[in-house]
Amino acid sequence: MTATDFTPTQLRLAPSILSADFARLGEEVRAIEAAGADLVHFDVMDNHYVPNLTIGPLVCEAIRPHVTIPIDVHLMVEPVDSLVPLFAKAGANLITFHPEASRHVDRTLSLIRDHGCKAGLVLNPASPLQWLDHVMHKLDIVLLMSVNPGFGGQQFIPATLPKLRAVRQRIDAHMAAGGQPIWLEVDGGVKTDNIQTIVRAGADTCVAGSAVFGAPDADGGYRTVMHTLRSQALQR
Ligand code: DX5
Ligand code: ZN
Repeated sequence: MTATDFTPTQLRLAPSILSADFARLGEEVRAIEAAGADLVHFDVMDNHYVPNLTIGPLVCEAIRPHVTIPIDVHLMVEPVDSLVPLFAKAGANLITFHPEASRHVDRTLSLIRDHGCKAGLVLNPASPLQWLDHVMHKLDIVLLMSVNPGFGGQQFIPATLPKLRAVRQRIDAHMAAGGQPIWLEVDGGVKTDNIQTIVRAGADTCVAGSAVFGAPDADGGYRTVMHTLRSQALQR
């Protein structure tokens, strides 16, 4: 541990339902909430911005009554704006998008907030931090991709760690100057054996798909892996 290690006041775990059993989705989201999840991470892929194709507002609406925790919608779609009202209506609480997929980033952030959701930008492994430059005051969340978007079960890219530290510094400086709180979320390849390093580098919100849903069964399995993720993350 170094003097610059970060300790979150609140650590949020966001299991990604991309790795859930889609035939039993209601049961799966109830199980992760019971196992201690803070958010449901909901990956939307359009076979255009990313090569994969997943789920839309109808599925968001279908799982909404099954959980009380917020639904964290990660839009990997292009264009973005037309889906925002649909997801807000379907019960999304947070909506994040990739800035290069929106022609008017500032406008999309306002659109999300105007629909009553928390708004955030997602930066791919090769996306520069300059995307944050003029919109810090409009962000509730920054999501750093630690894999290239499109698939679950990929390997964590280590270059995300210095990037996490740099974004943590920006957020802390922003808040020290009186700015609103901004969550720092990381997505891709988060496991029980690397979450501690990831959180120490600055993350306060961790997505985990295959690490959670790859656990043997919904009863003991999800609870055990979530407990291990949380205790590893916060061990100092
Ligand atoms: C990838 C998705 C992730 C994915 C994470 O494009 O955004 O949310 O489900 O899955 P794991 O944790 O398996 O890397
Ligand atoms: Zn995601």
